[in-house]
Amino acid sequence: MRQLRVHFLPDLIPSAGLDGATVVVIDCLRATTTIAYALAAGAREVIPCLEVDEARQRAASHRAQPALLGGERQGVRIAGFDLGNSPAEYARDVVSGRTIVFTTTNGTRAMLRCQGAHQVLLGALVNRRSLVEALAREHNLQIVCAGTRGEISREDVLTAGAIAAPLLGDRNAWQWNDETTLAVDAWRSAEATDLTAALHDTQGGRNLVAEGFESDIAIAARLDTIALVPRLDVQAWTIRA
Ligand code: MLT
Repeated sequence: MRQLRVHFLPDLIPSAGLDGATVVVIDCLRATTTIAYALAAGAREVIPCLEVDEARQRAASHRAQPALLGGERQGVRIAGFDLGNSPAEYARDVVSGRTIVFTTTNGTRAMLRCQGAHQVLLGALVNRRSLVEALAREHNLQIVCAGTRGEISREDVLTAGAIAAPLLGDRNAWQWNDETTLAVDAWRSAEATDLTAALHDTQGGRNLVAEGFESDIAIAARLDTIALVPRLDVQAWTIRA
């Protein structure tokens, strides 16, 4: 039987639960959406870092072709960084061919929790179809929602459901956990509605409105518009398409 397990937060992953698995990390608002945009705009790679100082040091070590620093704290661009965490900032004329050293509050933290996995892919609504195609033959699949500041966030649960629903087409082939069922149910009730409105009505959506990044919500809701899958190489610790 193929195994599919959704985890609503990194803290809900059972110990040793990711060993040998293919893992999809989701931070739909906004880290994994922004990384998909950056790679689609031709960025060479994205290097995720946990801490701001670590990101600065990593960027400083790229002397030959200076890296761009991207990411957020409290939602806004970090002092001295080139870019924040809005997908639209990662335009081709800015990022093409460049290394981006990237740190965000929840998304990059969730990636670090997945180091025991066989492979780590990044998921968002924008690249959902490509991701589902890439996962078509996986037998041990785990979907990890980043959440928001330690709390379950509906936008990540919806995105997990959007990925799980088409995979579970042949239900006889799979075993899954109840978080998978909850995510699929959430997605089924949202997919027939306006996705931008659905993402507004989430913790991440409300945070973005309060921080002045409402336009990022509509970008994150563009289902199946980016045809690539970001992959985190856990040995080299770099994300490429
Ligand atoms: C994160 O990784 O914490 C998020 O992407 C936060 C944000 O929307 O900037």
